[in-house]
Amino acid sequence: MESPFKGNILKGKVALITGGASGIGFEISTQFGKHGASVALMGRRKQVLDSAVSVLQSLSIPAIGFVGDVRKQEDAARVVESTFKHFGKIDILVNAAAGNFLVSAEDLSPNGFRTVLDIDSVGTFTMCSEALKYLKKGGLGRGSSGAGAIINISATLHYTASWYQIHVSAAKAAVDATTRNLALEWGTDYDIRVNGIAPGPISGTPGMSKLAPDEINNKSKDYMPLYKEGEKWDIAMAALFLVSDAGKYINGDTLIVDGGLWLSRPRHLPKEAVKQASRAIEKRSRNQPIGVPKSKL
Ligand code: COA
Repeated sequence: MESPFKGNILKGKVALITGGASGIGFEISTQFGKHGASVALMGRRKQVLDSAVSVLQSLSIPAIGFVGDVRKQEDAARVVESTFKHFGKIDILVNAAAGNFLVSAEDLSPNGFRTVLDIDSVGTFTMCSEALKYLKKGGLGRGSSGAGAIINISATLHYTASWYQIHVSAAKAAVDATTRNLALEWGTDYDIRVNGIAPGPISGTPGMSKLAPDEINNKSKDYMPLYKEGEKWDIAMAALFLVSDAGKYINGDTLIVDGGLWLSRPRHLPKEAVKQASRAIEKRSRNQPIGVPKSKL
């Protein structure tokens, strides 16, 4: 789909995107590039990074890939510094790297729980922490005029509770708290805006193929009336909006982009039954004399 934004809204900006070579992260990298940004991608798999970078370069987007694991502070520091050395500044950080798998709480080991928190929650904070000095207003970079922006990719799982995703729910709750606290501290001290995006089920992503195989997906539609899949594009447009000047007054928010899915409830009564019941009540009350209490009739 064509973007509703002007092609130059991120002109001259440099963005570092963790998990930027696949799924939602790659679409964000692509759309940021198409709107004028230079992009650095961080990921664990060299081959995946190499092919993502060559796709971006074929679109004339200045792009570079760095192998690294957000769980390792030395990797985070190296990638942030390499991005700065390569492009001369960093304006935007997107934390899209995440780990996930379905498992019942009973079968999940504490190490499995910790692994996802390490990637999603600690990894997000580590990247923010390492990128801070470059994102500050005036920054360290050439031509760095304004303060930077951070986007943390979250989820809606923890708004209520989710089957077989206790580890991810806990991890994303921590991500949202991190978003709000950094928005307060770094928004006040450095004018850095920190926001999140909570995607619903997005088609064609590793998350969907892993977490919602077709048979689960089809069943979901029965008990979640608002269930429909989004596109990676929907998330990338939300990210563009939040980091561009259009979002300049938005700080500490996590934008839900799920078509309203998390509000879904099965319809417990058909609409016609509700109409009939209210007609019956109306009829009864019309037959009662005004001002006479029911008990005296
Ligand atoms: N079910 C239950 N436990 C699991 C599991 C699964 N499917 N996958 C990993 N674990 C547990 C392991 O058993 C281990 O715990 P243990 O030491 O007590 O046995 C712990 O998690 C670490 O596993 P390990 O395989 O060493 O971790 P890893 O660092 O290689 O990778 C993930 C773990 C989660 C990152 C891996 O699933 C992955 O690479 N995912 C790709 C990214 C992804 O999921 N993207 C989609 C985002 S929505």
